[in-house]
Amino acid sequence: MIRVGVIGLGEVSQCMHLPILEDLCELYQVTAVSDVSPSLVSYIQKKYHVDGGYLSAEELIAKADIDAVLILSPDQYHCEYAALALRAGKHVFIEKPAALCLEELERLSALQKEYPGQVVMVGYMRRYAGPYLKAKEILTQEPKETQYLRFRDIILEAPFFLGQTRPVFYPKDVPADVIAEGGKLRRAQLDKAVGADADDETRTTYQMLTGLGCHSFAAVRELFGVPKKIHSVTTASRGEHVVIVMEFEGGFLGTYELVNNQEIVQFDAAIEIFQKDRKVLVKYETPYLRYQPAYVEVTESTGADTRTTRHGPDFHDAFQTELRLFADCIQNGKQPKTDLADAAEDLRLFGEIMKALKAGKA
Ligand SMILES: NC(=O)c1ccc[n+]([C@@H]2O[C@H](COP(=O)([O-])OP(=O)(O)OC[C@H]3O[C@@H](n4cnc5c(N)ncnc54)[C@H](O)[C@@H]3O)[C@@H](O)[C@H]2O)c1
Repeated sequence: MIRVGVIGLGEVSQCMHLPILEDLCELYQVTAVSDVSPSLVSYIQKKYHVDGGYLSAEELIAKADIDAVLILSPDQYHCEYAALALRAGKHVFIEKPAALCLEELERLSALQKEYPGQVVMVGYMRRYAGPYLKAKEILTQEPKETQYLRFRDIILEAPFFLGQTRPVFYPKDVPADVIAEGGKLRRAQLDKAVGADADDETRTTYQMLTGLGCHSFAAVRELFGVPKKIHSVTTASRGEHVVIVMEFEGGFLGTYELVNNQEIVQFDAAIEIFQKDRKVLVKYETPYLRYQPAYVEVTESTGADTRTTRHGPDFHDAFQTELRLFADCIQNGKQPKTDLADAAEDLRLFGEIMKALKAGKA
């Protein structure tokens, strides 16, 4: 049994990790939780019958009887808490993005080398989704030449779905100085990533990439490698609509569309791979409605005959698969594919995207 401490009890924690950890009670026992909101800590302690409740992550890591931590706090604290947990001998699961700036992530990677027996896993759950893995199997086992790649995240945020499904406790007692400190820390890390002189629109685009785009870019990287060139980056709507054109090894182009617009009442996330005589489509539904049927569609043409094969429905929850794998890594001494070195590839790539964006604006 792995004793877990959960740091950060907000939306994703309440909707995904806590109920999943409860479902996986043969693998995990949540023995401690922490958040900066006192009312939220006691709400979760009561709801999940957890003995240890802490108002600081530092205290949880130092005092609680735990083997592993799940870091589900705001992004700017991920590396700091992961470093504390590693030094205290714990295994670490960090929600994406592992860090907001490469410098922080590289420091954490260097530290992790001193603790080779501890697992560090980054929560890129889309890379553990059944249809994605099926698509990867098809692309690897029956390779064809890729001609074009289109991927996208047109996003309707969590409240639309949660308002109709799972109740979330939103606390009102987070101290003002804690909110201010978090904001300052975030800004300092963004300064390092995009430059202190970056305008608000550029900062928003960067945070769209680290917050959301990382899911898609990480999934595409695993299939096709890191794009070798960013051709153009176009933004609109204060940096919340982004279109990126890039080129991959082999010379084919890819386009990525990232649209955060709550007036488009749609969640439309997908990877479409156009190959010689074949198209492979992986669609992602919102993660906030769990156990939705998921598919991968393969359309093949031979002369006049065209056939579409639909693999699925697959009802696995990618968050659950990911947490099962985290346990497997801990229990069997494995390291996950979504590790810190892998996460660093995203931040390097986002650095290149920011350079192309600035060059386009100059
Ligand atoms: N894999 C995914 O699809 C997915 C989805 C949503 C969020 N996330 C990631 O999970 C993390 C949390 O996101 P969320 O949507 O739950 O955010 P949220 O704002 O709803 O929750 C964050 C929680 O952390 C608490 N907090 C604030 N400062 C803290 C501190 N210093 N120490 C500990 N806790 C602190 C807040 O009080 C809040 O309860 C983010 O890093 C986000 O990128 C991942």
